[in-house]
Amino acid sequence: MAPVGGFAVIGAGSDFKGKITVSVLITCIVAASSGLIFGYDIGISGGVTTMVPFLQKFFPSILRKAAEAKTNMYCVYDSQVLTSFTSSLYIAGLAASLVASRLATTLGRKNTMVLGGCTFLVGAAINGGAANIAMLILGRILLGFGVGFTNQATPVYLSEVAPPRWRGAFNTGFQFFIGIGVVAANCINYGTAKHSWGWRLSLGLAIVPAAIMTIGALLISDTPSSLVERGKLAQAKKSLAKVRGKGTDVEPELADLINSCAIAKAANQEPFVTIFERQYRPHLVMAVAIPFFQQVTGINIIAFYAPVLFQSVGFGSDSALIASIILGVVNLGSILVSTFVVDRYGRRFLFILGGIQMFVCQVAVACVLEATTGVSGTKHISKSYAILVLVLMCIYAAGFGWSWGPLSWLIPSEIFPMKIRPTGQSISVAVNFATTFVLSQTFLTILCHFKFGTFLFYAGWIAVMTIFVTFFLPETKGIPLDSMYTVWEQHWYWCRFVQKQPSQNLYDGN
Ligand code: BGC
Repeated sequence: MAPVGGFAVIGAGSDFKGKITVSVLITCIVAASSGLIFGYDIGISGGVTTMVPFLQKFFPSILRKAAEAKTNMYCVYDSQVLTSFTSSLYIAGLAASLVASRLATTLGRKNTMVLGGCTFLVGAAINGGAANIAMLILGRILLGFGVGFTNQATPVYLSEVAPPRWRGAFNTGFQFFIGIGVVAANCINYGTAKHSWGWRLSLGLAIVPAAIMTIGALLISDTPSSLVERGKLAQAKKSLAKVRGKGTDVEPELADLINSCAIAKAANQEPFVTIFERQYRPHLVMAVAIPFFQQVTGINIIAFYAPVLFQSVGFGSDSALIASIILGVVNLGSILVSTFVVDRYGRRFLFILGGIQMFVCQVAVACVLEATTGVSGTKHISKSYAILVLVLMCIYAAGFGWSWGPLSWLIPSEIFPMKIRPTGQSISVAVNFATTFVLSQTFLTILCHFKFGTFLFYAGWIAVMTIFVTFFLPETKGIPLDSMYTVWEQHWYWCRFVQKQPSQNLYDGN
């Protein structure tokens, strides 16, 4: 088959950055733990918004609606105020992620992560003690600022520190911690749901993951690239020596970083302007398309509202939470699969496999719901069909876990040249949050009106994104960050946009 989009560039870049050392492993695990706060929030909001004492205190109208027997099962939770509680975080996160690129450039990736952790911690405390909706929303805005900063800085941190040959595996760590956060939150919700003050504990306990990741981020050193960028050459050398391991000659790599940085600084351009140049069009398209597509897989519909969904399809409130714990664990296992596969078979293989898997599951869920609950959604689904929906959703979650989950953080963090890398990642996080916001704000209304058809809507998007990846996403596995331009130069479509770099091998003669 002609290599429409996927190929490997052999021989580009260096080999000296290929070793996995204990130090780089620990550093990356600690950095990836930033994913905890994002995951915790995702997991906690879905459960808390089904807790009766929480609804009684803040959203009593929803309970009144639920009590009206005639409402069809898709519409019980359709409330704009309830969704705005969930999605306010994303608007704040969007604003923060755009500011974060400047912070990550001037303060460094590590300090941006620390700042994110602290902001999230304050937000969690306010939410735990919330006495009214205003406090609840204020808390969520601070949580949003927190994840806006960490989601921007962490993937870039991981891609810059990881050995290129294993960059994919190291980067999946971020999604893995998001997954741990989700599962931890689901378990906590399960334990607290029985108490009238349970929601407070669930929301307030977010300070634990925030404290863990903030302390972790304080302990690691910044990435060599970021230190060079900020003129801290001695520290950059130390940081490089630490992650590359004892006995490694880090001088050539350091010289290379200094070189890339000097080129970037000489251009002295505003990165938010540079990124719109024609030669960066392929990068920009990916930075926008990948997070957009990740969201229209429908994952958050499953993640945020799994408990709601399971309850509406006939599980009791306890079993709804158990169901979402099961989903979370399956997702976690599949991220690990991705860790081992992503640098062997490549990103495209996983994207395409996961895409097909998710497509089939969404279509199947739609068919089961149509057949069992009727077109109007008023018939009650039987227990065995509810379990079938759960099984399908598990297969779906596994598909997401080894494809669009981790890879949507990885791709934007590895395709940009150093001078616009933080900007590219910022745009990507902003698109991710904006799309999540629109989807979560509209999902319950869409579900209420389109019923099982909602799942077909997402299936359609999954088909589009899988075709998009097949034709337009070049394979990036194993390519050092500073040789990444080669993948665009050799791509059948994108080659017409990029400016061919003079053939250079920065590592020759070292
Ligand atoms: C996505 C989130 C999603 C989570 C699920 C992340 O990669 O960006 O929107 O909720 O994965 O685990």
